[in-house]
Amino acid sequence: MQTLSSTASLRESISAQRLQGRRIAFVPTMGNLHAGHLQLVRQASILADCVVVSIFVNPMQFGPGEDFATYPRTLDADKAALQAEGVEVLFLPAVEEMYAAGLEQATRIEVPGFEGDLCGRSRPGFFTGIATVVTGLFNRVQPDIAVFGEKDYQQLVMIKRMVRDLCMPIEVQGVATMREADGLAMSSRNAYLDAAQRDRAVHLYQVLGTVKAALESGSRDYTVLEQHALESLQQAGFVPDYVSVREQRSLRVPGPGCKQLVVLGAATLGSTRLIDNISLSIT
Ligand code: PAF
Repeated sequence: MQTLSSTASLRESISAQRLQGRRIAFVPTMGNLHAGHLQLVRQASILADCVVVSIFVNPMQFGPGEDFATYPRTLDADKAALQAEGVEVLFLPAVEEMYAAGLEQATRIEVPGFEGDLCGRSRPGFFTGIATVVTGLFNRVQPDIAVFGEKDYQQLVMIKRMVRDLCMPIEVQGVATMREADGLAMSSRNAYLDAAQRDRAVHLYQVLGTVKAALESGSRDYTVLEQHALESLQQAGFVPDYVSVREQRSLRVPGPGCKQLVVLGAATLGSTRLIDNISLSIT
């Protein structure tokens, strides 16, 4: 595995792959890799000949008071895991490499409708930070395919929209969320939970499952279902942010006749913010 930190060396390496006619799949990450990330890498290697992974803890997507400084950084273990998966190129840019003009002066990409909705409501600047860094990474790697987890569902929808709107020649693939044995969605932030919180954390997934079951049995009063879910989270010791039923592709509030739904939720347990979602079809 080549480990590269400059855009110039990355481009050189990718050009060599392209000369051999190889298709490139890209998996952007912030490191602290778990089985969910490795699943993305496996999917990427099924879809292309050469897998490029980036590890970059992107300061632009963290708000003041969020966990940028303490975000778990486990580079040695990450490298070993990627090597074992047969990843060809690991891109490890420094902040100055990604934001040459400095973070404040950097050109930003904003996809309308995301900053003020769902996770964007309580994390100002989050989605602009992601759209900006992903564009910067896409322009450096120029992959044929990019792979993202469905756990960050709103992020995935935003990136698909951005790629379409800006006509980026990249196919964006979502991969199903990997879960622990009890159903908790795998996440680097699960490491922040103490033992008691860890036991309770799966309640978020269970609550979304209850909403899904109600929708499948014909309930269509989304507001009532969302309100019950928030109360249930509160009773279990969470500080809920939102539970929302949306249309799968657009993330709009579903209109009548909409069959492809996703139930999304975010809640804080102790000081750890957890998110999850479940997709479903109704008849
Ligand atoms: O999902 C993540 O880990 C990050 O938001 C991403 C896509 C790597 C951008 O920093």
